[in-house]
Amino acid sequence: MSVIDIASEPRLVGAKPPPAKASPLLGGKDPETPFPGIPVGAYEQGVFVQRSILGTWIFVSDPEGVKRVLLDHVANYPKTPMERRFFQAAFGDGLLSRDGEGWRAHRRTMAPAFAPPSITAYGPVMSDAALAFADRWAGLAEGTEIDVAREMSDLTLEIIGLTMFSAGGAVSARSVETALARATDSLTFNPLYLVPGAAGLMFRRLDRKIRTIFAELDAAIAGMIAEREAQGEAAPKDLLARLIAARDSETGAKMTPAEVRDEVITIFVAGHETTAAAMAWVWYLLSQHPAVEARLHAELDQVLGGRAPTVADLPKLTYARMVLDEAMRLYPPAPGTSARLALADDEICGVKIPKGANVVVAPWILHRHRTLWDRPERFDPERFAPGVERPRFAYLPFSGGPRVCIGAQFAVAEALLILAATAQRFRLELKPGHRVEIHHRITMRPAGGLPMILRRRQAAAS
Ligand code: HEM
Repeated sequence: MSVIDIASEPRLVGAKPPPAKASPLLGGKDPETPFPGIPVGAYEQGVFVQRSILGTWIFVSDPEGVKRVLLDHVANYPKTPMERRFFQAAFGDGLLSRDGEGWRAHRRTMAPAFAPPSITAYGPVMSDAALAFADRWAGLAEGTEIDVAREMSDLTLEIIGLTMFSAGGAVSARSVETALARATDSLTFNPLYLVPGAAGLMFRRLDRKIRTIFAELDAAIAGMIAEREAQGEAAPKDLLARLIAARDSETGAKMTPAEVRDEVITIFVAGHETTAAAMAWVWYLLSQHPAVEARLHAELDQVLGGRAPTVADLPKLTYARMVLDEAMRLYPPAPGTSARLALADDEICGVKIPKGANVVVAPWILHRHRTLWDRPERFDPERFAPGVERPRFAYLPFSGGPRVCIGAQFAVAEALLILAATAQRFRLELKPGHRVEIHHRITMRPAGGLPMILRRRQAAAS
């Protein structure tokens, strides 16, 4: 049985969601979802309990229950040790894999580097990069086929690289991406990781492999950190400089070079493919919904009048923001986060949660839940119009509570600047006959890329 209803009004309403490839882990082949193992009940009940040989899995989607897991009773629901251990092996001891006081200290220390004044400071880098990118599209012939998933990934990589390291240093964003891709490829799940005796050996082997992958890059990053420290005040005010100089507001402690390295890698992991995925889905959805596309164009023309977008324009791009929010509802870039482990018995919305249960709050399920959204498969940016109310914990592309994405404001600013700079001048049509499928591996992207045809907008200012 298909988990997802197929919308009955294919143009106006979200068309049919792109089908997914079968998950090799869970085996089942359901053409409508990237998570074939998830039972239909998880999309219908506020708290759904599933027992299997892999343990008890409890899917929580009632907003009050989600709030209990992610905020009110968060101390009872840490990330699962398995997830943290995987992240740690691949990407080091950064925010994604830390927990407890170690996590709190780093989060406090890093918060200013992601606060609104810092985002405003990164703004020109983002908009210049988006503009140069649009200029490159302008050099392509009308009707050129491009893989927009790849293009968005290249652009967000460039932006995170420039924001992190400025230009021209010893470390290129591309070298980080190459190492990360090899590390991520090493993260294939093997049931032996669940076997107590074998897990230690498996992880030690993984650690060795990952150290080799990162050896050269780590040396280059260490050199760059030392160089920045020596430069002191004269160092460029990029994200790296902010991380090196940051001090814990409570203890005054700085991060060590090794800690800064791990956070640099973590920020690349968390902050580049996610935004690229969001943008790829935005382009896909716009291509399927001409009325939404036309309204977006009208807003861009009215607000920008043909000039380049800046961070100051973002509050005025209300409809662009609605489109982005609705795209991240239907296709949350991190669809499977967050799995948590119940440390003690608890009760969520009247359901007993036994100690040791895996508690899952998954944006993919939450955002398509029958009780939270009217016709969840429908693509309808009006859901996010100013003034429309919804429970705070019903929409969580960036998760919620203390572990909410630290880069959420960075990501929204970046995505809107990219959208404004490009959609102001171009439209993209899905390559005729191309079947879009979902690929899920931490992030959720169109499988095998997203081939689209580049068109200049007739009424657009140059
Ligand atoms: C549309 C883009 C993005 C989405 C959808 C997204 C989503 C998320 C989600 C769901 C989490 C929670 C993960 C968990 O609980 O396991 C998270 C954490 C995180 N994100 Fe993002 N993210 C995005 C962009 C960014 C950007 C641009 C950056 C940095 C420049 C970033 C940095 C981080 C970091 C460091 C964490 C870990 C936070 C912590 O545990 O304290 N993310 N993100």
